Amino acid sequence: MRFIASFNLKPSFLLGAAILFACSAALAQGPTYKIGRAPTNDEVKAWDHAVGPDGKELPPGSGTGVDGAKIFAQKCSFCHGKNGQGIFPTPKLTGGVGTLNSYKPIRSSVSYLPYATTIWDFINRAMPRDAEWTLSSDEVYSLTAFILSRDGVIKETDVMDKKTLPEVIMPNRYGFFPDPPQAHPSSNGWLPYWNSAPGWKDGKQVGKSDKGAN
Ligand code: HEC
Repeated sequence: MRFIASFNLKPSFLLGAAILFACSAALAQGPTYKIGRAPTNDEVKAWDHAVGPDGKELPPGSGTGVDGAKIFAQKCSFCHGKNGQGIFPTPKLTGGVGTLNSYKPIRSSVSYLPYATTIWDFINRAMPRDAEWTLSSDEVYSLTAFILSRDGVIKETDVMDKKTLPEVIMPNRYGFFPDPPQAHPSSNGWLPYWNSAPGWKDGKQVGKSDKGAN
């Protein structure tokens, strides 16, 4: 009985899938709807705020961990904990440095992220939660500095700005590797490019990692 039922269901499922597929293929074909309009430059600018590792998109401004401590206590600690250690279920911003290659890895923004600019970018675009885009650039620099200083990556008095923030070497800076290339029939399968990873040569770490997550 069960066999017959599932046999009967199969063709209609396939038909549904075929219709869905046809629709999405039509959707992918592009600009024939005659609805919508091209975004204005201002609209593009409002979305175009991602900050990369070299920090060239960072705005002017600056701040230290000392400045950031006060702002963090007011606007962040009730969700992330006094020192950014996380209060379940909010993520840990600090702690866990050096644990990633242990049996109990603790992932925090500081222990895991390879670039300090990502912390700046995340705070700038998404924090404080439910009050996004209310922080000034100075405040975001200060908060990023506070988080980094909690784990001793920088000193509390170090000034973070467009120039100094991208220069910070994160504890896990050298823990990432490029994706291995696709296996090719002529190779033995998986071919890691360890030597092309920053800070590695012949399977040994040659770059500096100040907290030794590796
Ligand atoms: C209402 C609770 C809340 C407040 C207030 C808040 N956060 Fe968050 N934060 C979160 C949650 C939840 C996440 C997880 C990502 C998400 O859901 O957006 C997060 C993620 C983050 C992350 C990324 C963590 C990672 O590595 O994945 C950073 C950095 C951060 N918050 C910093 C701050 C700072 C700085 C402030 C104060 C200006 C702040 N947060 C205020 C709840 C909050």
